Amino acid sequence: MVNLDMSKYSIVTMEEVPSTNSYALQNIAFLDDRTVIYTTRQTSGRGRYNRKWMYDDSENIYMSFVLKPEIINNYPFPNLTQYLSVVVCKILEKEFNMLPAIKWPNDILVNKSKISGILAESYTENNSIKGIVLGLGLNVNLKNETIEKIDQKAASIFSLTGKNYDCDKLTRKICDEFFENYNEFSEKGFEYIKDEYISRCFFLGTNIKISENGEKREYYAKSIDDKGFLTVLDKFNNESKIVTGDVLC
Ligand code: BTN
Repeated sequence: MVNLDMSKYSIVTMEEVPSTNSYALQNIAFLDDRTVIYTTRQTSGRGRYNRKWMYDDSENIYMSFVLKPEIINNYPFPNLTQYLSVVVCKILEKEFNMLPAIKWPNDILVNKSKISGILAESYTENNSIKGIVLGLGLNVNLKNETIEKIDQKAASIFSLTGKNYDCDKLTRKICDEFFENYNEFSEKGFEYIKDEYISRCFFLGTNIKISENGEKREYYAKSIDDKGFLTVLDKFNNESKIVTGDVLC
């Protein structure tokens, strides 16, 4: 079923679940468009490139947007994670006065430490996409001891402010912000968020390392193109586009 009121959504709250993305994918046939699967306790979260998404005894935001666009042809699926990264940045700015930065394509950092990650997956049947699951992990109350254990520099709202926060309220704010402009984003695609996205890409104009298919390469990060791809220069000033991969900071 497809909602006609584009700003409407529903949240399914679960006390604990191994992975909201896995749950959404397993139940996608029964879940309506614009259903959000949400928990504060996720025990087996998945990240990009088969990485694990951390958790501890604290409450954090683990959520998956189930999206079933009516017409998939021009739907900006490749830019959905970038759209969500802008949404999360806006919430961190408005609610906590933070200055979040986006690390291409969709990691969100505060003070150079990762506070949020996004994983988009799709469910296909006979080679056509039947549904999209857009997962978001936001470290809200994750404790400093947990963060110190992982090799990647990470942060939580707690580690940055010293206070615990109500995940339910914050989740609703993220959903409101996401669905407020989702309709327009679905029609216009990356162009609709390009300026807001680029203004938060702190690494543009600097030398970066990129991991592409397991190999690390050095580039100068020149710009983000109209499709959301990263335009880079190599040491011989040859220009190329990075379509998938990770910027390493
Ligand atoms: C990444 O940075 O590698 C992406 C992390 C995505 C984690 C979220 S938490 C909610 C949803 N369920 C999952 O299993 N993963 C995503």
